[in-house]
Amino acid sequence: MAESGHAQAVDSHEGTRRDFLILAASAMGAVGVGAVAVPFISSMEPARDTLAAGAPVDIDISHIQPGQQIVVLWRSRPIFIMRRTPEELQKLQSTQEASELRDPDSSELQQPEYAKNWHRSAKPEILVLVGICTHLGCIPGFVPQPGGDLGPSWQGGYFCPCHGSRYDLAGRVFQGVPAPYNLPVPPYNFVSDTVIRIGENPPGSTFDLNTVVQL
Ligand code: FES
Repeated sequence: MAESGHAQAVDSHEGTRRDFLILAASAMGAVGVGAVAVPFISSMEPARDTLAAGAPVDIDISHIQPGQQIVVLWRSRPIFIMRRTPEELQKLQSTQEASELRDPDSSELQQPEYAKNWHRSAKPEILVLVGICTHLGCIPGFVPQPGGDLGPSWQGGYFCPCHGSRYDLAGRVFQGVPAPYNLPVPPYNFVSDTVIRIGENPPGSTFDLNTVVQL
């Protein structure tokens, strides 16, 4: 259960409302490839003691438009939350793309059971990832547009500027890059259609992020 004070923060409680940490802009700045406008989207900041304790945090995702991403902090880690378009979901099912991935079926334990599927998420359109490269821990940039400086074969995804690792829009790593594993998926569940609780599994799951192969 998320803390009650936090539950209040998800409501329109102006006294507790602040811009939550949005790392997308800085992550994009580090990418150094084609510029992508990442809209600034506000969500709620949980109380400091809630964050310090690593408690679950509730994030309002109602303002994330298709193709957009927000980044929030949970347990001092960046969490990518993206709403994928139907076209982006279609690409994830491409056999061509699957043949270029290191672990297309998420065989390695890098996600909970409820995200071990072709879209690596509880709901196909909403992607939730720990935004830390599985090579040496940089924050990959969000590069959803195809082509550009990443070449004609680039279909959109995440690019880590540190040593060039590439991931698709499900956080699946490509072959031939330094990163060895897919981006981790944290525990989360949907409190409602518009609120995600990061840090808490849905009923029936006991997934522990600390059990993944590479965090
Ligand atoms: S840390 Fe991402 S490629 Fe090296």
